[in-house]
Amino acid sequence: METRSRAAAVTLLLCALFSPSVCLRSSMQIKPLLYEEELLWVSGMQGEANTYRIPLLTSTSKGSLLAFSEARKMSSADVGSKFIAMRRSTDKGATWSPTSYILDDNIAPDGLNLGAVVVDRETGSVILIYAVCFHQYLCQTSSTMMVESRDDGLSWGQHRNLSQMLGVKSFAPGPGFGIQKRYNPAKGRLVVCGHGTLAGDGVFCILSDDHGHSWYNGAALKSIPYNHDKKAQDFNPDECQPIEMPDGSIIIYVRNQNNYHCRCRIVVRSLDGGESLPIDELYFDSTLIDPAIAAGALQKEGVLFFVNPANEFHRVNLTLRWSLSNGKSWERDNLQIWPGPSGYSCMTSLDNDPIDDQKFIYILYEKGHKDYDETISFLKIHLYAGR
Ligand SMILES: *[C@@H]1O[C@H](CO)[C@@H](O)[C@H](O)[C@H]1NC(C)=O
Ligand SMILES: *[C@@H]1O[C@H](CO)[C@@H](O)[C@H](O)[C@H]1NC(C)=O
Repeated sequence: METRSRAAAVTLLLCALFSPSVCLRSSMQIKPLLYEEELLWVSGMQGEANTYRIPLLTSTSKGSLLAFSEARKMSSADVGSKFIAMRRSTDKGATWSPTSYILDDNIAPDGLNLGAVVVDRETGSVILIYAVCFHQYLCQTSSTMMVESRDDGLSWGQHRNLSQMLGVKSFAPGPGFGIQKRYNPAKGRLVVCGHGTLAGDGVFCILSDDHGHSWYNGAALKSIPYNHDKKAQDFNPDECQPIEMPDGSIIIYVRNQNNYHCRCRIVVRSLDGGESLPIDELYFDSTLIDPAIAAGALQKEGVLFFVNPANEFHRVNLTLRWSLSNGKSWERDNLQIWPGPSGYSCMTSLDNDPIDDQKFIYILYEKGHKDYDETISFLKIHLYAGR
């Protein structure tokens, strides 16, 4: 018996004898397999929006999955009128509700931009944060907006303008999910991070300590030179995905817009619940090569997952990686999900059922044959089936 399978057999025995957590921490065990795939949105179908982009995915306290995207009405451009499209699954992704449009942005000429979804596990609320007039193209004032569902995503309340509390700076949340701190410091806090305009770019976090009622500005990691146009290789941290680590720190995987230092991911860490992002905690992860794009990250029971188009120059080759050392190193094994055009992505998992839910993670991503914005695809990944 080769060492690897012997170790796997020992781990299996330990799993059987003790607890599932023994299994989860074993690198030998993780061997992901694409288990189910469904296209949730297809761009340009008759009677539908021109283009669906910017996938967001979350699980709710009740164990539902909610998928969101921008339904761009007339063109594939970032600027322009859109709906926020949503679909909901109450059976772990096997079937989905028809698309509902939870906002039509014809109020604002530039349209809206997604966005970050955050679930408050104490109240059960689902909160969606988005920007209007982010690009300040046909309108002057950029606003940060919020809408909330208190019934597991079935209905949505009034849209609130958070810029009255936060100021009117251009802020594009995510794209991805926000977090609710599970551990101290600042247990219970909602942390939503995003980026600024191209000149005033950087990673900025907004925080709420009262379940999304009031918000204030937290950490800022500014681009250099700040508020000036950028050149190739300038320091320009952009779209980002925060995740909470088991020690209560927050790691943020950040788009390296101008390829400063490498064509790879910027990683920053907050030790104070999103109030600051000290430069001492910043590094570049040379394993996570990246074409400058929004990417997905997820922390699940001690294993860190990362997904992006793993290519330095092109948005192709969507690849899932995992780390057993909180991102210090990545396992040599990885899962190539789609070799072709692939774009933005977002990951989530469920943790309601202790046996079944530990086996799966879920990914929503932009997938195409010629262009990555042809469809938005939902994947259910079995973490232990591929061996
Ligand atoms: C949001 O509030 C700010 C500050 O009061 C205001 O300037 C902006 O126009 C508002 N945005 C929307 C969409 O109502
Ligand atoms: C796709 O990603 C895998 C994993 O990093 C890598 O080995 C492979 O060379 C990549 N292929 C392309 C075309 O980028």
